[in-house]
Amino acid sequence: MDFQDVGNLLWALLVSLYYCLEAIVMFFVPTGRKVVRGQTVLITGAGSGIGQRLSVEFAKLGCTIVGVDISIVGLGETKKKLEDLNMKVKYHCYKCDLSDREQIYDVADKVKSDVGDVDILINNAGIVTGKRLMDCPDKLMIKTMDVNAVAHFWTIKAFLPSMLEKNCGHIVTIASGAGVFGLPALLDYCASKFAAVGLSEALDLELWQQRKDGIHVTVVCPYYIDTGMFKGVSTPILPILKPEYAVNRMVDAILKNKRMLLLPGFSYVMYALKGFLPSKAMYVMGEACGINTSMDTFIGRKKE
Ligand SMILES: NC(=O)c1ccc[n+]([C@@H]2O[C@H](COP(=O)([O-])OP(=O)(O)OC[C@H]3O[C@@H](n4cnc5c(N)ncnc54)[C@H](O)[C@@H]3O)[C@@H](O)[C@H]2O)c1
Repeated sequence: MDFQDVGNLLWALLVSLYYCLEAIVMFFVPTGRKVVRGQTVLITGAGSGIGQRLSVEFAKLGCTIVGVDISIVGLGETKKKLEDLNMKVKYHCYKCDLSDREQIYDVADKVKSDVGDVDILINNAGIVTGKRLMDCPDKLMIKTMDVNAVAHFWTIKAFLPSMLEKNCGHIVTIASGAGVFGLPALLDYCASKFAAVGLSEALDLELWQQRKDGIHVTVVCPYYIDTGMFKGVSTPILPILKPEYAVNRMVDAILKNKRMLLLPGFSYVMYALKGFLPSKAMYVMGEACGINTSMDTFIGRKKE
C-alpha cells in the first residue's frame, strides 16, 4: 500500500462519513414524492394481488399502465378495476409466460412499438411451491427460479437501454422477506428472492459506477401479505399484512426513490440483528415467533 492508496482510503472514509450524516438528516427530513404523471409503468404479475393494486395506484397517479401476466383472465380483471376508477386510464396488457425468455423479449418488442419506452419497470410476478427441498419436484424449483429471479434479467435487459439513454427511469423489484431471511419449506422461493435482492443491489451499484443517477433502483421485501398467495400460513405473533397497507408503502417507497423497503418496520430490527447475532440465536427467535413453522399449514393458490 503506497502513499496514494492511503490517501484514497482516507478520502473514501471522509465521503462515507458525509453519506452517513446525509442519511441521518434525510431520516428526519420528510422526503418529497416525485411526480410520475404521464409516465409509463410496466408491471409484471399485474393480473392479481399486489400487481393489480399497484396498477390501480399508478393509474390514479396519472400513469399509463402496461400489465404483463400469464393470466388473460387476471389482466381482464385488472382492466375492470381500472375502468371502475372512472378516469381516462391508458391500459395495455400482454399475456406472457415469464419463465420463457423468448416470450419476454417478444412482448418487450410489442410494448416498445405499441406504447413506447417504459419509465418504471416493476418486476412483481412471483410463484411459490411451499414444499420442503426433498419433496419439491425439480421442475417446480426451476420454474420458481425462472419466474421469481431469472425473468428479471430479461425484462431489465429489454427496458433499461432507453432509461440509460435518457439517464431517467426506475427499476423496482418486488422480492420478499424471504429474500433476506431463509425459511423452512421455502427453500426454492428463498433462493429466488435472495437472487432478486442481489440482482437489484448489484444493478444499483453498476448504475452508480456509471454515474446514471437519474435511474433509480428499489427492492421491496415484505412479510406475508393477505393476497391468497400464501393462503393457510399460520402467524401466531406477527399478523399478516393487509394488501392496501403493503401497496401504499411500496408506492411511497418508489415515489421517494428508496433503495430498499422492508415490511413491516420490525423487519429492519431483525435484519440488523442478523448481521451480528449467532445463527442459532436467530433460529430460536424464529421458533419463538412461530415464523419457522409458519409454512406447515400452507395451502397456497393451487389447492383453492
Ligand atoms: N403475498 C405475499 O404474502 C407476499 C409476500 C412477500 C412477497 N410477495 C411477492 O409479491 C409478488 C406478488 O405477489 P402476490 O401476493 O400479488 O401474488 P399473486 O399470486 O396474487 O400474483 C402473482 C401474479 O403473477 C402471475 N404469474 C405467475 N406466474 C407467472 C408467469 N410464469 N408469467 C407471468 N405471470 C405469472 C400470476 O398470474 C399472478 O397474477 C410476488 O413476487 C411475491 O413473491 C408476496
